[in-house]
Amino acid sequence: MTTPSASATTSATVRIAELRDHVGASARVRAWVTHVRSSGKVAFAVIRDGTGIAQVVFVKTELPGEIWDRFAHLTIETSVAVTGVVRQDRRAPGGYELAASSLEIVGPSPLDYPIQPKEHGIDFLLDHRHLWLRSPRQRAIFVLRHEIEQAIHDFFYERDFLRVDTPILTAAIGERSGLFETEYFDEGTAYLAQTGQLYGEAAAAAFGKIYTFGPTFRAEKSKTRRHLTEFWMIEPEVAWYDSDDNMRLQEDFVSYLVQRTLERRSAELAELGRDTSRLELVKPPFPRVNYSDAVEVLQRKGSQIKWGDDLGAEDEALVVEDYDRPVFVVNYPKEAKAFYMKENPDDPRTVLCDDCLAPEGYGEIIGGSQREDDYDRLVRRIGEEGLSVDAYDWYLDLRKYGTFTHSGFGLGLERTVAWICGLQHIREASAFPRMMHRLRP
Ligand code: 4AD
Ligand code: MG
Repeated sequence: MTTPSASATTSATVRIAELRDHVGASARVRAWVTHVRSSGKVAFAVIRDGTGIAQVVFVKTELPGEIWDRFAHLTIETSVAVTGVVRQDRRAPGGYELAASSLEIVGPSPLDYPIQPKEHGIDFLLDHRHLWLRSPRQRAIFVLRHEIEQAIHDFFYERDFLRVDTPILTAAIGERSGLFETEYFDEGTAYLAQTGQLYGEAAAAAFGKIYTFGPTFRAEKSKTRRHLTEFWMIEPEVAWYDSDDNMRLQEDFVSYLVQRTLERRSAELAELGRDTSRLELVKPPFPRVNYSDAVEVLQRKGSQIKWGDDLGAEDEALVVEDYDRPVFVVNYPKEAKAFYMKENPDDPRTVLCDDCLAPEGYGEIIGGSQREDDYDRLVRRIGEEGLSVDAYDWYLDLRKYGTFTHSGFGLGLERTVAWICGLQHIREASAFPRMMHRLRP
């Protein structure tokens, strides 16, 4: 029989998720304590290490006195290294148990740990986001976000898209809403990128099929459940794609992301209590509703929307309630959308574009369009928007030297994560969300 200290040095150090491969053997785990209880003769600690949770059992009569005594110092979030024989036990939190032979306290945790097993208000939790991330629910969200990000890269890699990283400091501007500004040496004002699209278009002319995946910034003073001031966007741009090809790519893409999380991350979806029956239905094709038809339907349902307005959050929820999967609203009026969208030849009041609206009231997750590829018409649109043509000289070159039909879209990562996870508010989809009133931690 080995002594406790000898087993501590000879046991494999493993993560909790790997315990299943060490049943019957002694293993060492480094983790944080989440719960403790003791009957006086037998004591239990539940530990977590980011891969899962496990139970540690301390039996007084089987342990050296100093190790038994050390148990009394375990508080919530104490960091420990525990060694013991691994047992499978269905009743144990996490399904595996360590019969402790050794316990080392790495870092004590004072009793005033801010997050206790009770209800806390959202502002309190956000102020303690650096600690809140340790909870099982937050772990599930970030495992899902990670799976979705990996799925995004896999989807485009499998389809031979080139990933291109576009600048965050820019001189040109993209969308219409608020800009974050900063002084840039002798070059004047720099703006934090609202989109990588314009650079993506240049890259599409060079490489054919590309996507960007990076942070984007909007200084919007909106305090809604779906706006952040900093969010991540995935923006594919494809040479020779028209608006119809573009929507087919979008429905394949969104369906791939959803099906992939269902296949690989059902445990995390269950941790969040997500009803997955609605997600199972997310498969192509997605219904397409013409903007003008959507306005009529909305007016019939009591919305105040007039032809020419963008759809509000409530309008979007009213449109999708008639369908069982995401919906495309297509061909919006020019005045509701950005200058770069291609005029619709069948109705020049409108542009060839789509918003993809997620089910269950989550609203717009994608904005996409065919791009204006006619030099003169684009110059006119830039002028109509009150923008300076000089700022867009390089962008206009893409129409001057070998113009080409092309289309692309932007998928908001956090909105997509919020929808797939079933979150009430987008802020939980970001590890350290940035909103109008939140810059810390
Ligand atoms: O519809 P948007 O503004 O489109 C663009 O930026 C285009 N340049 C995309 C392109 O065609 N390449 O934004 C695209 C998506 C939205 O559908 C939404 O999911 C997300 O980005 N988004 C936001 N997410 C969180 N907070 C905000 N403030 C967001 N603004 C847009
Ligand atoms: Mg949009």
